[in-house]
Amino acid sequence: MNHELIHVRVEAEKVGVITLNRPKQLNALNDQLMNELGAALKAFDADATIGCMVITGSEKAFAAGADIAAMAGYSFADVYRDDYITRNWEQIRSIRKPVIAAVSGFALGGGCELAMMCDFIIAADNARFGQPEIKLGIIPGAGGTQRLPRAISKAKAMDLALTGRMMDAAEAERAGLVSRVVALDKLMEETLAAALMICDYSQLATMAAKESINRAFEGTLSDGIMFERRMFHALFATADQKEGMDAFVNKRKAKFKNA
Ligand code: HXC
Repeated sequence: MNHELIHVRVEAEKVGVITLNRPKQLNALNDQLMNELGAALKAFDADATIGCMVITGSEKAFAAGADIAAMAGYSFADVYRDDYITRNWEQIRSIRKPVIAAVSGFALGGGCELAMMCDFIIAADNARFGQPEIKLGIIPGAGGTQRLPRAISKAKAMDLALTGRMMDAAEAERAGLVSRVVALDKLMEETLAAALMICDYSQLATMAAKESINRAFEGTLSDGIMFERRMFHALFATADQKEGMDAFVNKRKAKFKNA
């Protein structure tokens, strides 16, 4: 598939890596880029050889937000009629295999929101997160007002969204927005190591883990526990569960078949 604003590659024949590529605009997210990103994610999700995906940007910017120049002239009628954001920003929500955000540099506005739509964020030590939309006379519109308080508490979400200040990688890790912080020059190495680890497990189990954890954000605790329990029970119907437990008992490495 040909893409202009993203680079797509496969690492070790099993990790799908998507690099946002609008360097002059610090990877500002426009319609074309979001369409390309959605198509690439869907293609990897449908490819049985791919076990995990990574979305990354450049050293300077994961993404500095939605494209302000493109948005500047939009009217209410434009965005409401065309279903701006909902139309093509949320395809990532339908992706069933794990997606990791490898973030260096700026992850602002829609860029921070895109990172939060991924399953977890590994940040380089130069990463900076923020929701500066308030400075533009708007608010976060790609889930930031909902995912940020769930990820880092109401207090910090209010602080970021109301002041528009940026949070560095260390603060983001303390707050629970990112799962780990690594040296900038180790970002891809560490992210790919995590992705490869995920790829070696049963895809059925990694998808079930992702689906179950996402339930924690959608409903009540008892519904989430019930969902988890049924998924857990269901995995006993898989050959991979037999393989994983037999391998442990016989002190050998498991070879999962995603079946
Ligand atoms: C369009 C952008 C952009 C953006 C940067 N650029 N961010 N273009 N949309 N979001 C462009 C600049 O205009 C500039 O182009 C080039 O990228 C380099 O940016 P500089 O500002 O010169 O770089 P620097 O001084 O290093 O400052 C970096 C920065 C700053 C702090 C990230 O660019 C910045 O504040 N950007 C805007 C961040 C923002 O407000 N994001 C939220 C957007 S609203 P030229 O042509 O001059 O070289 C949003 C809505 C979300 O995301 C809700 C729905 C998704």
